[in-house]
Amino acid sequence: MKEKSPYLDQNNILHLPRSIMVILCGASGSGKSSFAAQHFPETYVVSSDRCRALVCDDMRSQTVNREAFELVNHIARLRMALGCTTIIDSTALQEFARQSLLHLAHYYSYPTLLLVFDVSEEVCAARDAARIDPPPVGREVVALQFELFRELLAKVTNEGFGTVIVLKSEQINQVRVQLEENHR
Ligand code: GTP
Ligand code: MG
Repeated sequence: MKEKSPYLDQNNILHLPRSIMVILCGASGSGKSSFAAQHFPETYVVSSDRCRALVCDDMRSQTVNREAFELVNHIARLRMALGCTTIIDSTALQEFARQSLLHLAHYYSYPTLLLVFDVSEEVCAARDAARIDPPPVGREVVALQFELFRELLAKVTNEGFGTVIVLKSEQINQVRVQLEENHR
């Protein structure tokens, strides 16, 4: 998939236009939030954990998913209406979650890039277990996420995303992001 990407060059430089929705996708511990923090200004990143915290003070609460994703979608909508770069930081392992973001992006005529973090279950589980902040989601949750992840790998190229890039574990830390100059 890397070869087909209009964004990732052979030197692992990810060239992004300003008006794009990038959806980070992968299991807990795959490094999505670390990647977002390393490569994008904080305000570009719409994080489901952050939105959970904003609505109920607990970034890992699974009882506020509806509210948290309403907020994720709302912020994404506002950012795209203003032409801002929109990076979605959530696992995005459920198809309906990906589809709802895709519909939003289409509405604003934003190109979409699904950036898939292909890190092994063992590595994700070990990183998750070693975590303090945010706290671990636990081995069983990671196992469930990997069931969804395997399904995702099988079908993701047919879901309607403009571009899908699957980053292998060893590649993730080699990627550098270059955002186009802001002409607004
Ligand atoms: P969720 O928010 O739970 O979905 O996980 P995430 O995909 O956002 O993972 P996150 O970036 O929070 O990383 C999880 C843990 O793994 C953190 O403790 C990171 O410091 C660590 N981590 C992330 N990327 C790497 C990496 O490339 N190498 C190593 N050794 N640790 C990493
Ligand atoms: Mg995270």
